[in-house]
Amino acid sequence: MVYWRKNKVFVEKKMINRQIDMKTLIFNRLQFKNDLICAMALKIIDYNSEQYQQMVALRTEVLRKPLGLVYDPADLVKEKDDILIGAFDDDRILGCCILTKVDSNTCKLRQMAVHPSMQRNGLGASIMNFAENVARDAGYTKMVLHARKTASKFYEKLGYAVNTGEFIEVNLPHLGMIKSIF
Ligand SMILES: CC(C)(COP(=O)(O)OP(=O)(O)OC[C@H]1O[C@@H](n2cnc3c(N)ncnc32)[C@H](O)[C@@H]1OP(=O)(O)O)[C@@H](O)C(=O)NCCC(=O)NCCS
Repeated sequence: MVYWRKNKVFVEKKMINRQIDMKTLIFNRLQFKNDLICAMALKIIDYNSEQYQQMVALRTEVLRKPLGLVYDPADLVKEKDDILIGAFDDDRILGCCILTKVDSNTCKLRQMAVHPSMQRNGLGASIMNFAENVARDAGYTKMVLHARKTASKFYEKLGYAVNTGEFIEVNLPHLGMIKSIF
């Protein structure tokens, strides 16, 4: 189950696994112990869809504009083979990430971003949880990522371990991180 309550998003793994074939996990507005639970969806998005355009806009806002950068269209084209994940409140994107195949056992989580107004409310952790389930269902046993140093504690809390020295990407210090997901 995915629901939004008192500024926290909760995800129940069993529910995700059951519904993953549908590419979409959606919950409608519900009443739960007197709290309003808003419509919330964690979805696999199609490349070049309207939802994908929203995802690129969010990533530009959160991950590129603050650095004075934009996306190279040639890099975006490569995303047609990736697994694209978005969190939506009704039709509005709130957060996202991308899974890229590294080899038959390993996939790389990239482009993790949560809308600034929603950060530190549990949404990022929910997206990661969903992404790990999607990766597991696709047969991957290892997740790797390049964490901005400023975000490495977020990944550490989710069980990721640093497995490289510090390096620079998009002009920022990064750390390689890894987690077994089988
Ligand atoms: C990093 C980011 C994806 C985290 O998503 P979020 O929704 O803000 O994170 P959550 O609220 O789910 O946080 C989960 C836990 O990690 C902690 N956390 C989140 N961001 C953190 C950070 N930058 N530093 C240290 N701890 C952090 C939270 O406090 C929370 O801890 P708790 O479980 O003890 O309460 C989001 O803040 C973001 O988009 N930041 C800007 C872009 C960015 O840095 N992306 C990552 C690129 S590698």
